[in-house]
Amino acid sequence: MRLDKLLGALGLCTRSESRELFRRGRVTVNGETVRDGAKNVAEDAAVCLDGKPLDTRLTRHVMLCKPSGVLTAAEDPRQKTVMDLLPPVYRALGCMPVGRLDKDTTGLLLLTTDGELAHRLISPARHVDKVYRARVDGVLTQEDAAAFAAGISLKDFTALPARLEILSPDCGLVTVQEGKYHQVKRMFGARGKTVVQLHRVSFGPLALDEDLQPGQYRELTEEEAAALQKAAAGSHAT
Ligand code: URA
Repeated sequence: MRLDKLLGALGLCTRSESRELFRRGRVTVNGETVRDGAKNVAEDAAVCLDGKPLDTRLTRHVMLCKPSGVLTAAEDPRQKTVMDLLPPVYRALGCMPVGRLDKDTTGLLLLTTDGELAHRLISPARHVDKVYRARVDGVLTQEDAAAFAAGISLKDFTALPARLEILSPDCGLVTVQEGKYHQVKRMFGARGKTVVQLHRVSFGPLALDEDLQPGQYRELTEEEAAALQKAAAGSHAT
């Protein structure tokens, strides 16, 4: 990739601003000052700006512990979004949330620069499990679990069979493979129960890192990213 394009993709400067950086000799590649932004650099080249090494990876996968009160959106003119919780480089690289969590839902949200991967992860045809801990304003019963397993019929669609594991009278673990608008809340609603707290604990092979506090994030390890790719390969085509 051209060096000036790379710096632009990382959100460090515009193409024209980069000319000034090169002119002033502020950019080095593998220890050599580069004054021509058109120079192509290898993926593994050591690029420095003002002597500081740059992280030039264009593909990033992030696990965020989403707090309540933040929108799952790329941007919003009025409200804080999950993108505002990440350093600007992620936005510059085109990192996007994988599916959505409601504003008041907390827990594991994945974000990736890989749009194809995101698409596959949220496709019901790939059978990727999403697990939520739900607290409700009623008493959960085995009849609720049986109804979830049979596939809850909602106004506009019938949910795929889901698993409800009852943890305590008002708290359950729900496993779904699709992510329609307000899906889990609506499934409980159809059983006469209101969800008062919803927290995603896992997404496919990934569990929320317990060290992450609400609002904190980390990048996936190589092993986690590989496991996610494998899960996204799923058993069916979209
Ligand atoms: N189901 C919901 O109802 N809300 C979420 O945020 C996620 C799943």
